[in-house]
Amino acid sequence: MNNAPFIGLVDDAEFLPLIGHVIGRSTARVAFEVQGHPNFVIKKALWPGAFSNRVEYIIWQQIADEPDLAAVLGACPAMSFTGEHLLMERLSDLSTSAHIAARRVPCWVTDRKPTNFGINAAGEVKMRDYARLNLGEFLARLPIINV
Ligand SMILES: Nc1ncnc2c1ncn2[C@@H]1O[C@H](COP(=O)(O)OP(=O)(O)O)[C@@H](O)[C@H]1O
Ligand SMILES: [Mg+2]
Repeated sequence: MNNAPFIGLVDDAEFLPLIGHVIGRSTARVAFEVQGHPNFVIKKALWPGAFSNRVEYIIWQQIADEPDLAAVLGACPAMSFTGEHLLMERLSDLSTSAHIAARRVPCWVTDRKPTNFGINAAGEVKMRDYARLNLGEFLARLPIINV
């Protein structure tokens, strides 16, 4: 993504000076503004070993070059080695009925509550929480190949 303060896996210390005001919070994470980078958020895990940041980072790395999926999932350009901090594109709360009606979700993402969607600076409605997955039944449809 353009203008990310850093990309890839970095130390938690890189995130700390950029943490701004709290934007929102749920059961596993709290989201903060990123100082100097209004189109991003930092998502901080609320307990050690929480996996949601890692899941989103890994999924994003796998699908970033798949346009149909990248259009509906929030971009995650960076994460800390510990998984405590994740950098995600900012996806603001949906306010208009047209935006609410524009919500789309990959069939393998299971937590589809309204607060898990938002809209980015370009007007794209995307998921901002896609850590809960049901991959098995979909992966099982793909061939297992000889090596
Ligand atoms: N990319 C984002 N842009 C803006 N706000 C966000 C973003 N991601 C999360 N938030 C805010 O933080 C809250 C909690 O984030 P969420 O990813 O749903 O955490 P949890 O894993 O605890 O459910 C959201 O409801 C929203 O208010
Ligand atoms: Mg959530």
